[in-house]
Amino acid sequence: MKDYKPIMSFDDNVAEIYRNIERGDEVVAVAFLEQLAGHGPALELAIGAGRIALPLAARGIRVDGIDISPAMVAQLRNKPGGKEVSVIVGDFADVPVADNYNLIFVVWNSLFNLLTQDDQVRCFQNVARHLTEEGSFVVEAYVPTFLCRLRSDQYVDTEAILIDEVKLDVLRHDISTQMIEESHVSLSPAGVRLNPVVQRYAWPAELDLMARIAGLRLAQRWGGWNREPFNSNSGMHISVYGR
Ligand SMILES: C[S@@+](CC[C@H](N)C(=O)[O-])C[C@H]1O[C@@H](n2cnc3c(N)ncnc32)[C@H](O)[C@@H]1O
Repeated sequence: MKDYKPIMSFDDNVAEIYRNIERGDEVVAVAFLEQLAGHGPALELAIGAGRIALPLAARGIRVDGIDISPAMVAQLRNKPGGKEVSVIVGDFADVPVADNYNLIFVVWNSLFNLLTQDDQVRCFQNVARHLTEEGSFVVEAYVPTFLCRLRSDQYVDTEAILIDEVKLDVLRHDISTQMIEESHVSLSPAGVRLNPVVQRYAWPAELDLMARIAGLRLAQRWGGWNREPFNSNSGMHISVYGR
């Protein structure tokens, strides 16, 4: 997508939508992360509006965050407990923090918002620099199988049909570059609104190699936050890396 920058996906309008979005996995995700965090501290890469960070912090663990979007951070700040979370506005590939953490995590496919393999490897390397000796790095992401089964490498999905609005999800896949280009399209009397998203996905095995380059090893891989087995039917994975 020519001239695309990740910040475009998370402007004021989108941040407003993310304000109260829940995926339904929050309770189990927080329980999983809490166990690994121990006494903390924890760091969330791409913290967004605090969907996971805030309930984790409410368990008594110090949770810091990094996010590139001031609009998303503003949504976090407006929520209960949001002002107590320390957030750095910056690129999480750099992991621009001073402290070391028992737990660093990146969920909801956000690792794929880094658009090159180099940036993703750099992220793993910088995470390794900020993990305590026993610390864990948790990545939650989709398994790209579904992208390889698309007809003509693309789809248009209907997200909602309302009296005064139709919402579509339009996606194209380039298997040679492992990139997806997507737009959430809203058609209404107010006009057409587009929310572009670009991602560079990676298969779990590629992430494991990135971890090795960074001096980390895969310690656990699950097919869900309830520790469901990871197998060829898994649509997502939760991977835990350590030294
Ligand atoms: C789908 S939201 C997920 C937010 C939160 N982790 C959650 O689970 O609700 C993705 C977030 O990644 C952030 N983001 C995307 N690219 C980034 C980058 N390179 N550095 C820091 N944050 C980034 C966006 O601003 C957005 O807040």
